[in-house]
Amino acid sequence: MSSQMTQDSIIIFDTTLRDGEQSPGASMNLEEKLKVASLLEDMGVDVIEAGFPIASNGDFEAVSKIARTVTRSTVCGLARATRNDIERCAEAIQAAPLKRIHTFISTSPLHMKYKLQMEPEKVLEAVSQSVGLARNLVDDVEWSAEDGSRTDHDFLCRCVEAAITAGARTINIPDTVGYAVPDEFAALIGMLRERVPNIDKAILSVHCHNDLGLAVANSLAAVRAGARQVECTINGLGERAGNAALEEIVMAVRTRQDRLPFHTGLKTELITRASRLVSTITGINVQPNKAIVGKNAFAHESGIHQDGMLKNAQTYEIMTPESVGLNKSTLVLGKHSGRAAFKDKLKGLGFHLGDNAIEDAFRRFKDLADRKKDVFDEDIRALIDDAGAGSVQRIRFLSLEILCGSRQPPYADLELEVDGAIRKIKATGDGPVDATFNAIQQLFPHPAHLQLFQVHAVTQGTDAQAEVTVRLEESGKTVSGQGADTDTLVAAARAYVNALNKLLVKREKTAPEAMTP
Ligand code: KIV
Ligand code: ZN
Repeated sequence: MSSQMTQDSIIIFDTTLRDGEQSPGASMNLEEKLKVASLLEDMGVDVIEAGFPIASNGDFEAVSKIARTVTRSTVCGLARATRNDIERCAEAIQAAPLKRIHTFISTSPLHMKYKLQMEPEKVLEAVSQSVGLARNLVDDVEWSAEDGSRTDHDFLCRCVEAAITAGARTINIPDTVGYAVPDEFAALIGMLRERVPNIDKAILSVHCHNDLGLAVANSLAAVRAGARQVECTINGLGERAGNAALEEIVMAVRTRQDRLPFHTGLKTELITRASRLVSTITGINVQPNKAIVGKNAFAHESGIHQDGMLKNAQTYEIMTPESVGLNKSTLVLGKHSGRAAFKDKLKGLGFHLGDNAIEDAFRRFKDLADRKKDVFDEDIRALIDDAGAGSVQRIRFLSLEILCGSRQPPYADLELEVDGAIRKIKATGDGPVDATFNAIQQLFPHPAHLQLFQVHAVTQGTDAQAEVTVRLEESGKTVSGQGADTDTLVAAARAYVNALNKLLVKREKTAPEAMTP
């Protein structure tokens, strides 16, 4: 964590990779998690909750890899109040220069009785033991009172005091079920500050869910009442209705310094990129009217507004699009542009790729420039995001020809490379997309179900690249694949193949015997 933290600094704790990933359909693979973690680090996020290491080998591997990669943000892992969880977590974050164990237990009467089936005194003992154990393994320990907002105040005070005595440096009060309202939640923080004797030895944190649409309001009310860490996610991703949205918290603080005189140290100009990266990877779209990152957040449609904007942008704009990294589309390079100019552009867009990845991206850029007259920054971003097809690619897309229209049934003529061998097939379907996916199914039979098929235009105009997301589900596991191309059907085939490759990696990790198609 930054050594420049002051009394008025708010610690931004991002849990996109843990709580965010818990939302249905949002699972990410190792490579995708690394991309998100690196961008969060570049944004200046103080603490990255990288996952829940005990949950699966995949989670453990992702947390360890992030711990080995991220150097400027604290890398945090989640653990329940058990020895196994805490030791596994410590092992996963071990390599990080700045590391934190986040351990939690439920404290509300409802959770203790029905979920934990534990007496309050036993829970209190578990708080001291779990935090003490974590403190023996790392210096930086956070303790959370799950369902804190519905916990009896006297009991919450005793638990918080015990956690601090056992060595917790951060005390997190979650509104786990998104039940609190702002004045009540602020009062809860005030109550803890007043009643817990050793509260000055810890930083108070909040973690609000959005079931009533109040997650950001509750978090900001808590900050005004003395909380100095906010837990949040990009795009407000998270269980059920999600978590407090990072971009809304940070921009509220930046925009309303008069009411929220705090400092977050975040590079807000990277917000739009982070939002797009997370929605592309997960296939979970941002609603158009979503604050800060929705497609319409800075659009002025009505005549009166447009007139005002032309006279003075401040009439209807409380923050600039540039402050969240939403710049006007800039024309990039033409098909005659060279490698050096392309590399320079990538750098300008904030991508730091290795030589092989640059070479691959350059080849695809040339190919795109051949087919598309104007190539914009967004096209380059889509190209790079799409290039994250994963290092393990048993199946490669080679070519696709489609015959469709109103005169004959559609058919797809598809060529794939499967485990190094070229396979071709012609297939029909209830439309060109169906025919394409049927062709893939016939070339590589698999039991996965298509859960989501989504197309979005990267830029405007009829020659825009289509960015397709495909989500597949197999035995309760979901993966999302992406593909971008000026041809929507080619993008769809690429996205499907990308998802299938990810599924095969997942299968390999869980059931090696299920590897043959
Ligand atoms: O919502 C919640 O209570 C949580 C805890 C694990 C912090 O996510
Ligand atoms: Zn949560």
